[in-house]
Amino acid sequence: MKFDTPAGTNPIDNLKVVGQPLDRIDGPHKTTGTATYAYEWHDAFPSPAYGYVIAAGIGKGRIASMDIEDAKAAPGVLAVVTAKNAGRLGKGDFNTARLLGGPEIQHYHQAIGLVVAETFEQARAAAQRVRVQYDRGRGAFDLALAKPSAKRPTNEAKPDSAVGDFERAFEEAPVQLDETYTTPDQSHMMMEPHASIAHWDGDQLTLWTSNQMINWGRGDVAKTLGIGRENVRLISPYIGGGFGGKLFVRSDAVLAALGARAARRPVKVALPRPMMANNTTHRPATIQRIRIGTTRDGKITAIAHESWSGDLPGGGAEMAVQQTRFLYAGANRKTTTRLAVLDLPEGNAMRAPGEAPGLMALEVAMDEMAEKLQMDPVEFRILNDTQVDPEDPQRPFSQRQLNTCLSEGAERFGWKQRNAQPGQVRDGRWLVGMGVAAGFRNNLTTKSAARVRLDRQGMVTVETDMTDIGTGSYTIIAQTAAEMLGVPIERVVVKLGDSSFPVSAGSGGQWGANSSTAGVFAACDKLRRAIAEKVGLAPDDAVFADVQVRFGDRIVPLAEAAADGDIVAEEAIEFGDLAKKFQQSTFAAHFCEVGVDVATGETRVRRMLAVCAAGRILNPKSARSQVIGAMTMGIGAALSEELVVDKRLGFFVNHDLAGYEVPVHADVPHQEVVFLDEVDPMSSPMKAKGVGELGICGVTAAVANAIYNATGIRVREYPITLDKLLPKLPPVQRA
Ligand code: MOS
Repeated sequence: MKFDTPAGTNPIDNLKVVGQPLDRIDGPHKTTGTATYAYEWHDAFPSPAYGYVIAAGIGKGRIASMDIEDAKAAPGVLAVVTAKNAGRLGKGDFNTARLLGGPEIQHYHQAIGLVVAETFEQARAAAQRVRVQYDRGRGAFDLALAKPSAKRPTNEAKPDSAVGDFERAFEEAPVQLDETYTTPDQSHMMMEPHASIAHWDGDQLTLWTSNQMINWGRGDVAKTLGIGRENVRLISPYIGGGFGGKLFVRSDAVLAALGARAARRPVKVALPRPMMANNTTHRPATIQRIRIGTTRDGKITAIAHESWSGDLPGGGAEMAVQQTRFLYAGANRKTTTRLAVLDLPEGNAMRAPGEAPGLMALEVAMDEMAEKLQMDPVEFRILNDTQVDPEDPQRPFSQRQLNTCLSEGAERFGWKQRNAQPGQVRDGRWLVGMGVAAGFRNNLTTKSAARVRLDRQGMVTVETDMTDIGTGSYTIIAQTAAEMLGVPIERVVVKLGDSSFPVSAGSGGQWGANSSTAGVFAACDKLRRAIAEKVGLAPDDAVFADVQVRFGDRIVPLAEAAADGDIVAEEAIEFGDLAKKFQQSTFAAHFCEVGVDVATGETRVRRMLAVCAAGRILNPKSARSQVIGAMTMGIGAALSEELVVDKRLGFFVNHDLAGYEVPVHADVPHQEVVFLDEVDPMSSPMKAKGVGELGICGVTAAVANAIYNATGIRVREYPITLDKLLPKLPPVQRA
C-alpha cells in the first residue's frame, strides 16, 4: 500500500482501542520471567556450549603472537576461534569485519577470539590461558588534539548547509553570542547485555540474539560469514533495552556463529558488562561551536552551528547540527560537521543521535542569548518560531506546535515564579533554579510489512519482524490490529522479532511506532477486504465491529468467516516522497527545577515536566513510559554520564555500572508528561509519530539551564559534575 498524503478518515480514527492507555500485553511475560531473552532459550537448548570472548588489551597496534595451546588443553574446551583459524570475515554494511580483530588491532577490547567450552566457567578460565603479545602502535585518542585534522565526512548525506550570508549578518548583529560546548562519549549501558545463541543445521544458521533491526542483522550476518541471507535466521522477540547499541550485529552474534561452527554445538555468548563499553558502540563525544546574532528585540538574524566528532577510519560523524537546521527562524545560517579519525571504539547511534547532543549545546546557547537580551527564555524561543523549514521556506512542517508546548509548559510548571536573576533563590542549603529547553527530533518513515491471519476461533495473529526493545511495540501493534478488525485486544496475538516474518521498519530513529503500525494497518486493510469478499460483502461497505463483519442485515461472526480455513493477508506500507513535501518533526518543551547544594555542589533534580507534540499518541501509557525513561536518561547526560577516555592508552576507563553512572530511582524526581492533542495526517494512516527519542531531546539542556539559574555558574562541558561547580560557588557561612 502506497501512503498518499493526507491520510483520510479510516478505521483507526474510531479510537476504541488505539489511543487508549492499555497495559503492555508483554508485561506479564516479563514480570513472571517467561519472556525469553537472547541468552534464555533454556528449553530449546538444554545443553549448549558456552563462548567467552577474548578482547584486545591495547588500543591500537598488532598482535605479535597469540598462543592458544594452553587454552585448547584446558578442561572442557571444545574450540578456540581466532582470526587465524576463522578465515577472513566479509565486510557487512555496518563494519562487521572488525568484529573479530587480528593481527591488526583497531580498538581496545576489539574481540580477537572466542573460547568455547562445556560450561561458562570453563570457557572463562581457559580464556585467561590465552597468551597474547602485542606491538603497540600509535593511535589518536583525544578529540581536542585531533580536531584540527578533522575533515568534512564523505559518508553523511548532508554534513554542511548554508543559507544567506551568515558571517556578514553575524558581524552586523547588535547582540552576539559565540560559545563552545563539549559533550562526552556516552554508553548505551542497556540492562540486557549483547547476547546470542547460534545453532547450525547443515548450512542453515539460526541466531537467537538481541537486535533492534532484524533485517539489517540478517543481511550483515550473511555478508560477514559469506553465506546467503536465505541461510540465516534471526530470532529476537524480547530485548532488554537497546538505545541504538543493538541496531547492528555485534561480536557476540558473529563469534557465536563461528564458535558453533567450530565446536559443532549450539553456542551461547554474552558480552560481560565490563566488555560492553569498549567492545561495542557508543555515542561519540563532540565539540560544538554556536554563534547566534539577533536584533536588539531578540529576532535571530544569524545562526551557525559547527560540530566536531571522531570515529575509527571510515566511520561516521555525530550529526549534532541537525536540529539547528530546523528549530529557529533566521535568514542567515550555516551548519558544518567535521569528522576526525580517532582510534577509540566505534562511535555510532545512541538514542536520538544528532539531536540529543546537539540540543545539549544549542539550547544552552539559546538560554545564554536570552540572558544577553534580558528576555525570558520561553519568550525568546516563541519569538523565533518558524512554521517552514528555514533552509527551504517552500517546505512547511506537517505539524509544528513548539510554541504551544512552550507556553502550556510554562503555565503548568509555574514558570512565572522563576527569578530571572541567577543565584537568588534559597531553600535551606539548596540553591534553587528553573530551566527550560526546546525538544526537537525528526520523524522518519520507513517501509514496513506485516502478515495478519484470522482463524476459525476468531483470533487474529500478526507476524512482523518488528522488534520491541522495551518500547511497547507488542501493545501498539495489537491495538492497531484490534481496531482495524473490530475485535478486543485480547483476541490479537502478536509475534515479533523473527526474520521469517515480513520485513518491518525495525526499532531505530523513533520511526518504529508509526511505521510498523502503519504496516500492520496496511496488512489489516487487505485482510478486511479478503474477509468481506469471503462472506459476500462489498469490501468498502463491510463494517468490522464486535468481532463481526456486517452490512445492513447481513451479520457474520469473524470465526464463522474463517470456518473453512484461515484467511491471511500480507502487505507493506510505503511512504514515497513524503519527506520531500513536508518537514516531519516532533517537538517538546522541557522544564526542570534543580537544587544545588551550596556547600558541596551536588545537584538534585527536584521536578520535571515535558510537553510533547508528536502526532497521535497510540498508547498514552507506553508513550509516557518512553518519555519518562528518556527524561531520566537526560538527567544522566546532564549530571553524570561520561565514558572517561584514557588518552595515553586509548580506552574507556569506566567500563561498568560502578564507574559509568546512570541515574537510579533516588536521582529521579516527580516527572510529568503532557501530550498535546495532535493528529498528523501527513505522517501515515496512523497519523502518529514517535516519542522514544524526542523524550531525551532537550532535557539535558533544561537541567543545565536550571543549574545556571540556581547558581549563576555556566558549565559548558558536560557532564555538570560537582567539581565543575564547586570552585565558583559562593563561600559558605559557617555557624
Ligand atoms: Mo536508535 S539510536 O536509532 O536505536
